[in-house]
Amino acid sequence: MSTALIILAAGHGSRMKSDKPKVLHRVASAPLLWHAMRRAEGLEAEKTVVVVGHEGEQVAESAKACNPDCEVVWQHEQNGTGHAVQQAQAALAGFDGDVIVLYGDTPFIAPETLARMLEARTSGSDIVVLGFKAAEPGGYGRLVMENGVLGAIVEAKDATAEQRAIDFCNSGVICAPAPLLFSLLEQVGSDNASGEVYLTDIVAIANARGLACSAIECAEAETMGVNTRADLARAEATFQQAARAAMLENGVTMTAPETVFFAFDTVIGRDTIIGPNVFFGPGVTVENNVHIRVFCHFEGCHISSGSIVGPFARLRPGTELGGDVKVGNFVEIKNAIVDRGAKVNHLSYVGDAHIGEGTNIGAGTIFCNYDGVNKHHTEIGKHVFVGSNSALVAPVTLGDEAFVTTGAVVTEDVPAGDMAFARVRQVTKKGLGKRFMERLRAAKATKK
Ligand code: UD1
Ligand code: MG
Repeated sequence: MSTALIILAAGHGSRMKSDKPKVLHRVASAPLLWHAMRRAEGLEAEKTVVVVGHEGEQVAESAKACNPDCEVVWQHEQNGTGHAVQQAQAALAGFDGDVIVLYGDTPFIAPETLARMLEARTSGSDIVVLGFKAAEPGGYGRLVMENGVLGAIVEAKDATAEQRAIDFCNSGVICAPAPLLFSLLEQVGSDNASGEVYLTDIVAIANARGLACSAIECAEAETMGVNTRADLARAEATFQQAARAAMLENGVTMTAPETVFFAFDTVIGRDTIIGPNVFFGPGVTVENNVHIRVFCHFEGCHISSGSIVGPFARLRPGTELGGDVKVGNFVEIKNAIVDRGAKVNHLSYVGDAHIGEGTNIGAGTIFCNYDGVNKHHTEIGKHVFVGSNSALVAPVTLGDEAFVTTGAVVTEDVPAGDMAFARVRQVTKKGLGKRFMERLRAAKATKK
């Protein structure tokens, strides 16, 4: 049976007190919306429809960036979750498989849970709702069970005192065949405490039609939604805790896991060691047997096996370290390929460059890649030696086994095997050091 997803992301999210739509706030370097979309990736949905409204252009752009094949539909006025789902009807015309409705602000529904819902659908239920036992049921919709069958979902605002005492709550995730879902929604009114078209009302209507509705249960942690900045911080903590546990489980060593932060897409190989206080932004892959020392910051980079990075290194997008590379303290690398065995050990900036195998970049070397308007490339061959405190003014090429002396400002190419001096020649005056110091001391003494 094929599956389609409808992701509701039209809401305002006013409790975030933000100019940005709620679903674009980030957890683990990805918008909340992406988490919801990616969790459902394993289902290989035939169609994904994202319902946007508030600041919809931005939300649509982000949805497309996550899944270029998704379809975006508009809900211009937020008249409720049922109304939101109705906006996806035209996009799903002719689709007769199962639909799963997810919320864009609920990032942690487990893929296995969605699979369980689909299973329940194929084993006899017309509608399957995902429920959870809430520690504080508060404003959640209550799942009214009658002899193991889901009889109705009652919104907290509309519930009787007896119904409010139920702690089995609606996560919001609902699964039903598309034609049935839209046919039931046609019967849903807005005669309730909010004056909205509730998606949840389809359950009572389905029961009245003699259809079978069931609820499956998941852990409350999965259903966590984000409404406030405090929720966002909690969601981040939840993500990180799970990501750290998964990394440890997969053979990554962390001396202080609670201080290491991963992105939604971080990949790290086994036997890699990560010291305290390391941050992974989006798009980072690290192979096996890498050593990352304390206080590093990574984004959009790849680190190959045997490399040692940090302490205090920053690798920016487009950085690729080959095997056994050494990047030391206070080094920043951007958009550069560093081949096997090369070393950039101290206090350097490397930008828009290729560094060949076994090359040594001396302390404090700066790749001057920017002329104020354009960026330029620096090409460095194999086994080159760049002396400390040099400036390589791009575009410039250093051939294999070239040698740049310390303190050089290199503005012209250095052919393979040559040595470049680009600094003022030293002058040494006999005895002047000592005489000069004596003069300074004498001058200071007469002032007292
Ligand atoms: C909803 C459920 C409730 C459930 C709770 C779980 C209904 C009627 N109630 O209540 O049973 O316990 O979620 O968190 O479904 N949205 C739109 N357009 C709209 C309204 C909402 O896109 O017109 C989106 C929101 O952006 C959000 C989601 O739907 O992502 C849920 O809407 P929200 O208003 O938060 O519903 P709740 O009142 O929390
Ligand atoms: Mg809500």
